[in-house]
Amino acid sequence: MKNQLFKKKSVDQILLDSETKGSGLAKILGVRDLVSLGIAAIVGAGIFSTIGLAAFNGGPAVSMLFVFVAFACVFTALSYAQFASTVPVSGSAYTYAYVAFGELFAWIIGWALVLEYAVSNMVVAISWSQYFVSMCEGFGIHIPKWLTMAPGYAIEAHQKMLDVGAENLTGIDRIALQAYETAPRIGDMPIIFDFPAGLITVLVTMLVYIGIKESQRASNIMVIIKVGIILAVILGGVFFVKPENWTPFAPNGLGGVMSGVAAVFFAFIGFDSISTTAEECKNPQRDLPKAMIYCLVICAVLYVLITLVLTGMVNYTELNVKDPLAYVFQYVGFDNMAGIISVTSVIAITSALLVFQLAQPRIWMTMSRDGLLWKKFSTIHPKYKTPSFATIVTGFVVAVPALFFKMDFFVDLTSVGTFFAFILVCAGVLYMDKSGLSKKSKFKVPYVNGKYLVGLGFIAGLVLMYLYGQDSLAEWKTLGASEVILHKSLVLVFWITWLTLSILSFKHDFSLLPVTGILINLYLMSELGASNWIIFIIWLAIGLLIYFMYGYKHSKLRENTVSE
Ligand code: ALA
Repeated sequence: MKNQLFKKKSVDQILLDSETKGSGLAKILGVRDLVSLGIAAIVGAGIFSTIGLAAFNGGPAVSMLFVFVAFACVFTALSYAQFASTVPVSGSAYTYAYVAFGELFAWIIGWALVLEYAVSNMVVAISWSQYFVSMCEGFGIHIPKWLTMAPGYAIEAHQKMLDVGAENLTGIDRIALQAYETAPRIGDMPIIFDFPAGLITVLVTMLVYIGIKESQRASNIMVIIKVGIILAVILGGVFFVKPENWTPFAPNGLGGVMSGVAAVFFAFIGFDSISTTAEECKNPQRDLPKAMIYCLVICAVLYVLITLVLTGMVNYTELNVKDPLAYVFQYVGFDNMAGIISVTSVIAITSALLVFQLAQPRIWMTMSRDGLLWKKFSTIHPKYKTPSFATIVTGFVVAVPALFFKMDFFVDLTSVGTFFAFILVCAGVLYMDKSGLSKKSKFKVPYVNGKYLVGLGFIAGLVLMYLYGQDSLAEWKTLGASEVILHKSLVLVFWITWLTLSILSFKHDFSLLPVTGILINLYLMSELGASNWIIFIIWLAIGLLIYFMYGYKHSKLRENTVSE
C-alpha cells in the first residue's frame, strides 16, 4: 500500500507522454502574453471587493501587508517556475506533487486546488453580483434586496437590529435588514439568495462548455480594461486624497492589519495559473519565471497604490463596502466616475470568473486521466471539444454555494487551501534538490545555502519575539499547557516547523529561498485562525475518503505498483 501511496510519476515518462501523445497545443505564448494571462487571472474580486473589508479592519497600513504578501508569492513563484521548467506540462501543482511526493500528495494538492479555483470563483461571482447590483442602481433599476445577497447577511442584520436598534445600523446592515424584512417567506423563513451571483456563474459555465475560449486577443482587451480601471482610480482618486486620512496608519494595530491576510492574499492568487500554459509557451523555461515575477511586481505596485488612494480618499471606517472602487467616488460626489467604474468592473470581473471556470474542469480532467477521478470527468464533448461533464459539475459546484453563502467564508477557505498548495510546491523544490531532479530543471530557484541561515533566522525570530512580543509572552504564561495547545496551536505549528527546517537545513544544506517561501506562507496561514484550519482539515478528510474509495483502486499507477 505504502508503495502505491508514495509512488511518483517519472519526469521522463511525463515528458515522453506529452511528446508522443502530443497535446496538439500550439506553442505561441511569449512573455507578454503570459503576463497578460497572469493579470487576467490575478486581478479580480480581491482588488475590486475584498480589499474593502481588509482596509476597514487594518486601516491604511494594509498597503504594507500587500508588500509582505507579495514577497511570499515571489518565493512561491520561483518554486513554481522551477517545476514548470522541469515538467512543462499543464497539470500545475497537481502534476508537480505527483513527481515530488507521489500519488497521495498529488491527490491532496488536486483536492486543495478545488479551493483555489472553484471556491475562489464563488467569491468572484459574489463580487460580480455586487458590482452588477450597484451598476443597475446607477441606471435606476432596483433589484429586490432579497434577491441580491446571502441569507447570512440579512439574518445577522436582523439580529443586530434586535440588539442595538435599527437606527444604529450602518450602510450594509441597513440594506441587509431591508432584505430580511421584504423577503417572501415560507412559514417564518425568509427566502433570500444572491441571484445575480448564481446567474453569472451559469452563463459563464455555458460559454466555457460550448468552448468559447478566452482568445489571446480577448484576454488582452480584458486586461487593458482591468488595468485601465485601476489606473483610473489611482490617477483620478489622487486628487481627492486627504493625507490626514492616513493618520493613524494602523488604527487597530498589527492585529487589525493581519486580519486582512486572507483578503490580501486572495488578491494575488492566480499568478500560479499561468504555469498551466507551459505546453503552449514558446520557451517555458525562460519565459514562465520572468512572467510570474513581472505579474507579481505589477500587481503589487498597483495594489499598494490603490490601497493608499482608497484609504486617503475616505476614512478607513467608510470602507466596509463590497464595491469600494466605485463607492469612494460616490462618496466624494463624483457619481459619473463611480458609474463608469461599476460598468467596467462588471466586465473585468467576468473575465476573472471565466479564467478559473476554464481551469477547474481541466485539472479534474487531468486527475481523471490518471485514474484518480471517475472516467466521466475526462469526457470530451464530441462537438465542442471541451471537458463537458467536468465543466457542468464545476458550474453546479460554484453556482449553488454562491447563491447562499457569505463571501468572507469563501475568501478564508480559498486562502487556506492555496497557502497549503504553495507550501507543498516550495517543499517540492527541496525534494528536487535532494533527489537530483533539479539537474533536469532549466530554471532553478537561485541557490543560497541555508545550512546556518535558517537556524540563525530561527534564533533571531525568538530574540525578536522576546524583545518585542512581551505582551504575547505574558499572555502565553497565563495559559495552561492544554490551553496553549488549544488556542496557540497554529503559532506552535509555525515555530516547530521553523525549528525542524533549521535542523534539516543544517543536515542537508537546504536552499534558503524555498525554505523562506514555506515559512512565510505558513506564517500567513497561521494568521487565518483555527476555525479555517478546522474546515480545511475536514475538507482534506473528505478528499481522502474519496481517494480511498475510488482513486486508490483505479489509479493508473496502481497496475505497475501491484505487479512490483
Ligand atoms: N486573485 C483573484 C481575485 O482577486 C482570485 O479574484
